[in-house]
Amino acid sequence: MADPVIQTEDQDWAAICASAELGDEEMLTARVGEWQILMVRSGDGLSAFNDCCPHQSARLSTGRLRRGAIMCPLHGARFDIGSGRCVGAGYAPLLRMPIRERNGIIEVAPPQRSPAPDEIPKDA
Ligand code: FES
Repeated sequence: MADPVIQTEDQDWAAICASAELGDEEMLTARVGEWQILMVRSGDGLSAFNDCCPHQSARLSTGRLRRGAIMCPLHGARFDIGSGRCVGAGYAPLLRMPIRERNGIIEVAPPQRSPAPDEIPKDA
């Protein structure tokens, strides 16, 4: 079970796309301010992460989504799409962001700070 991502009404929610644009077992990316966001839908669950591997800052969206995990394209670390935790290796978890669907629109609330240098994908 994933730790809850705290959501409050005073967060700065950004409308990203229509709900139908993100299908089941698919990934979609967006940029909001300085943050590069990776969204994933799996069954009834939606998750949003910083699109950056905590190991060496590879862009995760260029990896694959398989069996409930995002696989990093650089060294193959796998991250659970519910919790963002690394599966089978000791890397830090992914930075999760609040995500919701409202009136057929997917909204994400990225952090209200700038990303640190190691939170920006290396190819950005
Ligand atoms: S950069 Fe992702 S596992 Fe190394």
